[in-house]
Amino acid sequence: MLDTVTIRTQRTSASRLQHLDPEHIEFGKIFSDHMFVVDYRDGEWQDAQLLPYGDISVSPANSALHYGQAIFEGMKAYKNADGDITLFRPHDNLHRLNASAERMCMPQIPEELFMQGLTQLIRLDAEWVPNTQGSALYIRPLMFATDGFIGVRPSENYRLLIFTCPVGLYYSKPLRVRFEEKYVRSVEGGAGYAKNAGNYGAAMYPTKLAQLEGYNQLIWTDASEHRYVEESGTMNAIFILDGKLITPELSSSILDGITRRSVLQLARDWGMTVEERKVSAVEVMQALSEGRLQEAFGVGTAATIASISVIGYQGHDHELPTPGEDAFSLRAGATLHAIRTGQAPDTHGWMVVV
Ligand code: COI
Repeated sequence: MLDTVTIRTQRTSASRLQHLDPEHIEFGKIFSDHMFVVDYRDGEWQDAQLLPYGDISVSPANSALHYGQAIFEGMKAYKNADGDITLFRPHDNLHRLNASAERMCMPQIPEELFMQGLTQLIRLDAEWVPNTQGSALYIRPLMFATDGFIGVRPSENYRLLIFTCPVGLYYSKPLRVRFEEKYVRSVEGGAGYAKNAGNYGAAMYPTKLAQLEGYNQLIWTDASEHRYVEESGTMNAIFILDGKLITPELSSSILDGITRRSVLQLARDWGMTVEERKVSAVEVMQALSEGRLQEAFGVGTAATIASISVIGYQGHDHELPTPGEDAFSLRAGATLHAIRTGQAPDTHGWMVVV
């Protein structure tokens, strides 16, 4: 497959690999040597390139900077036990990137172009894929408008970039979160299901306020009543309540997380009851006070599974039980890790060898 895309490669003359300490990788601070770049111009994708990772220049009138016509993805590559490099559900990321593109009036990205660029980039920077416990190569595809034009309308030109960075843990300890009852991340009919830049930028202020109060993240609630859980920070939220897995049903305001989808699949494989439905803050807090809430956690590509230790609600903090060794979140995290590193069978065909 994929032989129809030609990619011109310019290798770096100064690899930065020696600056990587595989035992102490901080999230998102060191970037691999190369990046994949392709422009969309005159209604067509132009010649693709693999270039040394570095700064890019854009017009000051670039409409992505002004009006936020920019989307991205988060995905990860792993080294398995045989030394092969594998990607986790990359086609799902492309599918979601194209759904975001549609929402933001941007062109669709052909599968061959994306997969060829991605796999050639990972092969070129294969030595950057870490294999220490809990590490992975984080992959950041992004597309943004490149027109220098001040009027508000979809850009005619775009750039697709993919770059990567070896990463360790996103959160190093369980999270203190609180229900957000004033600000919202997204609204029904808005763009919350898309991975567009503005969703994340607009979440920073309410998150900063919560962090000043000593929380790590928020549990976002719905825009009309502030009653139902939407997401937690930049992750989907999952609760283990009365032994069942309960998570907000997808909607136009909730991101269709690939880790979410995978964790729900594992729960179903293990015979658990999975309920995708509205989950109210009152239901969660009542279950917690009655000892029926066994676990709460966020799931996402960057964090994988982030356990929640404290939930703040209406001015009071409530501690969750510490997950025991048999906790669902730990088992799901370990199983995902085992599948990704080739130590458990990939029964759902999630892994793609690069
Ligand atoms: C991810 O989990 O990959 C995300 O995109 C969240 C965040 C790092 C922006």
